[in-house]
Amino acid sequence: MYFIGNWKMFGSVKSINYINSVIKLAKLSKFKKAKIVYCPPYTILSEFVKKTKNTKIKVGAQNCHHEKNFGPYTGFINAKMIKLIGAKYIIIGHSENRRAGDTDKLINLKVKSSLSENLQVIFCFGETLKERKKNKTFQVIKKQIYMGLKNLKNLKNIIFAYEPVWSIGSGKVLNNNDLESQIIIIKNYLKKKFKIKNPKIVYGGSVNPNNIKSLVEIRTLKGFLIGGASQKSKKFIDIIKKSIN
Ligand code: 13P
Repeated sequence: MYFIGNWKMFGSVKSINYINSVIKLAKLSKFKKAKIVYCPPYTILSEFVKKTKNTKIKVGAQNCHHEKNFGPYTGFINAKMIKLIGAKYIIIGHSENRRAGDTDKLINLKVKSSLSENLQVIFCFGETLKERKKNKTFQVIKKQIYMGLKNLKNLKNIIFAYEPVWSIGSGKVLNNNDLESQIIIIKNYLKKKFKIKNPKIVYGGSVNPNNIKSLVEIRTLKGFLIGGASQKSKKFIDIIKKSIN
């Protein structure tokens, strides 16, 4: 089961020691099924890689530039650089990046360049509240997935992260029945349209120690993409402990 911590624009070199307790937990055989991935900001990626060396914890980036080769793109970092630093994962298509200008076309190129670097892509998609209210949820999700994966091979290195935009940071989460049926629809779409045998789908949006016990009951989920609660190791550990018995 995946526990992917997205630190977003938080954290400094000092915060790296916060993860000591998570490193300890990851060593316990009881938690060997927990696939823990930290996605800190670029500025501390390399420190995270060093810190988690010889542990089961993996490190990922939160985005990248779409250009696969090095080039004159001031202020950007591409998938190749992320790979070279020792990260194994990358988040692409997060709604916060979509909102900041990442189009489906750019996302498609980013996924492509990340896969060509053998990074595991955490591909995010999800509807806004307005879209949900208009009953457009599946239509929106389908388009994001279709455009994002268009003409790509090697889809087995993708983890699909369903993150309803309205659920991120709001404390609001779909009830289990609705979430589960949503996940099943997504899974079937991925199987049918992209011939992915067993798509790995994780959920993100206000996952916290209080709602995790109920969320893990959704057996079709392979884990969680966690924002706020992943920055505090106590909460993150609580989530992991409550998910794995
Ligand atoms: P929160 O867990 O803070 O709602 O954030 C979810 C998220 O955006 C993870 O990528």
